[in-house]
Amino acid sequence: MISVLFVCLGNICRSPMAEAVFRHQVKERGLEDRIAADSAGTGDWHLGKPPHEGTRALLDRLGISYEGIRARLVRPADFESYDYIVCMDSANERDVRRLFGCRSSERAQVLKFMDLLPEKKTADVPDPYYTGNFEEVYELVDEGCGRLLERICSERLNESRV
Ligand code: 4NP
Repeated sequence: MISVLFVCLGNICRSPMAEAVFRHQVKERGLEDRIAADSAGTGDWHLGKPPHEGTRALLDRLGISYEGIRARLVRPADFESYDYIVCMDSANERDVRRLFGCRSSERAQVLKFMDLLPEKKTADVPDPYYTGNFEEVYELVDEGCGRLLERICSERLNESRV
């Protein structure tokens, strides 16, 4: 199983949205028994909570399931448990790299979500917890997740078209 962990600050807005959207795309392509997704946060304010109501409302409208998603902290062991650790912004990436220390992993590639969309020239997925704009986050998340899936298919599944 190839596994992806999305990481943001609170694990209630951006990374659970990415988890749900990515899983939905994986399922649409019939790859759910080959690619798994999860999400986690670097901050502990919302542990055990479901996604933020803004993320839930958007996913409900689109018919995308977020069943079972609950906030948890990113932990050092995640470095050995996931193939792709995708950080929603630069601060998340810095915090994750600090948590993992100077170890290298046989397994994980740590990347920043917006590096999947280099043409956007934006470093970070904006945080809707502060902006209130869940739509703009969804636009980026949907496109970036598609790009990630293409990348996984070509890097790991030897399938260039999905
Ligand atoms: P997220 O947004 O990192 O996209 O889940 C946030 C959620 C909660 C907080 C900050 C950002 N907070 O400070 O509680």
